[in-house]
Amino acid sequence: MYEKLISESIKAKELSHSPYSKFKVGVALLTKDDKIYLGANVECSSYSLTICAERVAAVKAITDRRKKFKAVAIATNSKEFAFPCGACRQFLSEFSENMDVILVKTKKQYQIYKLQNLFPHTFKLK
Ligand code: THU
Repeated sequence: MYEKLISESIKAKELSHSPYSKFKVGVALLTKDDKIYLGANVECSSYSLTICAERVAAVKAITDRRKKFKAVAIATNSKEFAFPCGACRQFLSEFSENMDVILVKTKKQYQIYKLQNLFPHTFKLK
């Protein structure tokens, strides 16, 4: 079902700018209208200014007028499945609270979660 999204996330690792951590993260974000946006982590010598791959992809989609997401595939070079950080969970849930989150090791090894299960009780300005 998500074959293309998964392989795009693996390819997106090549876009990573991560000279400090050497930890490459590649993301492929699927919008409600079936467009795919790629993202990768972009690090900065002032480390805390680093931007995660998930938020790079989301910001690209949002500023291209696409604010509803079906799924995000996240690939890294780690041997473990890498979950999105808390900040990215909050950020994605702002737009699509119950999208699918796919953790990718290889084209054949992946896990699918619901964002709501990874991040219940998201902060809301209400
Ligand atoms: N990183 C992401 O791109 N996404 C996450 O959800 C967590 C961490 C990046 C930030 C940094 O460039 C590297 O992974 C190591 O923390």
